Amino acid sequence: MYIPQDIIRTKRDNNTMSSAQINHFVDGLVTGKFTDAQVGAMAMAIFQRGMVNEEKVAFTLAMMNSGTVLNWQDFIDGPIVDKHSTGGVGDKVSLMLAPIVAACGAFVPMISGRGLGHTGGTSDKLEAIPNFNIHPSLDHFKNTVKKIGTAIISQTDDLAPADKRLYSIRDVTSTVESIPLITASILSKKLATGLDSLVMDVKIGNGAMMTSLVDAKALARSIVDVANGASVATTALITDMNQVLGKTAGNAVEIVETVDYLTGKCREPRLHQVVMALAAQMLVSSKVAKDQQQGRDLAQIALDSGKAAEIFEQMISELGGSNNFLSTYEQELCTANVVKDICATSAGFITCVQTRDIGMSVVALGGGRLDHHQSVDHSVGFTDILPKGTQVNIGDVIAKVHAKSADDAQRAIKQYLTATEISAEIVEIEPVIYEIVD
Ligand code: URA
Repeated sequence: MYIPQDIIRTKRDNNTMSSAQINHFVDGLVTGKFTDAQVGAMAMAIFQRGMVNEEKVAFTLAMMNSGTVLNWQDFIDGPIVDKHSTGGVGDKVSLMLAPIVAACGAFVPMISGRGLGHTGGTSDKLEAIPNFNIHPSLDHFKNTVKKIGTAIISQTDDLAPADKRLYSIRDVTSTVESIPLITASILSKKLATGLDSLVMDVKIGNGAMMTSLVDAKALARSIVDVANGASVATTALITDMNQVLGKTAGNAVEIVETVDYLTGKCREPRLHQVVMALAAQMLVSSKVAKDQQQGRDLAQIALDSGKAAEIFEQMISELGGSNNFLSTYEQELCTANVVKDICATSAGFITCVQTRDIGMSVVALGGGRLDHHQSVDHSVGFTDILPKGTQVNIGDVIAKVHAKSADDAQRAIKQYLTATEISAEIVEIEPVIYEIVD
């Protein structure tokens, strides 16, 4: 028989919790037998003392089992694989990756999140597509994955409900930034979708949750070890978030960039590198490709043949959108009232970008949220963003702002210019991909 205070004391005193204690805590999260105060104390004890790998595995599995766990056996004959990113600004990679990997023969049931704070969310971006239903029934979701190879939907209340309560309490008790808690939170939700393998995109930089390489590596290591400990083959790529990924940040504007990428109209090189590296890894992990090179080749064929674009269009149609989105997206997507150029005020090289501030500027425009209940304006954001290292003259357009009003646009232009450093000397730009952790 366990009582909450004894379990909290175990962790508070830096001892290893047994699986039974961990199960009891997670059960208490769901039933309410752990009060908010006790959950907060427990989160703080874990934050301060950490967890050994066995505790993290037991904690992740208990949270995963607190709700529905999808099972694809006897329903789909093929590898089930997904990607998860720790989030950033302009990170629209999931929207490209899921159809590419599906086009290569793997199945990608992707549960995406909403944006919060400076980071955007795939669910919000998809909701910019008229009539796209990010909350289909479970049967509709599963049938779509079976039929076309992928479906991207929003987090549902019945996947890992224990995490929902724990996260809301972590949010108000300064216990979000804990590697064991982040690991269990991310993995419980991902593993509940019944994956055979997972690829993590751990972002590092001034627009990421992890701002130092040491922390990014520690999180990647923790997630890889715990997921593998839970029998899901997992690899992590550490990728750069010291500037916006691609040329856009916002919702509808990122859907435009996605369509342009999939159809070959425009593939921003850094974004393309991240997409190809993750696609290759997903194809290797799911044993569709024998090595990275074959994975890249298959992904490139999926793009060049138009099959990935076709799957993206089919997914939109299956989930409530129009039947021919690739032809009509420019008319269908909402546009902002005001579009203004952001011009360089000095000559030189773009050397430093405060990526988090640009994400917060999207929030200020109305394109993101500071708390879960806020609604977002899908039309606003930034486009035509020039990457770091670009040489510019005074007056050159370094980005465009899309805003609801002229006042909002002026404020965003000021914020964008403040967040962008232009220097006479070129500096070394961070790599796109830092390393692979497996
Ligand atoms: N994302 C999650 O889902 N959980 C965390 O704890 C942090 C980021």
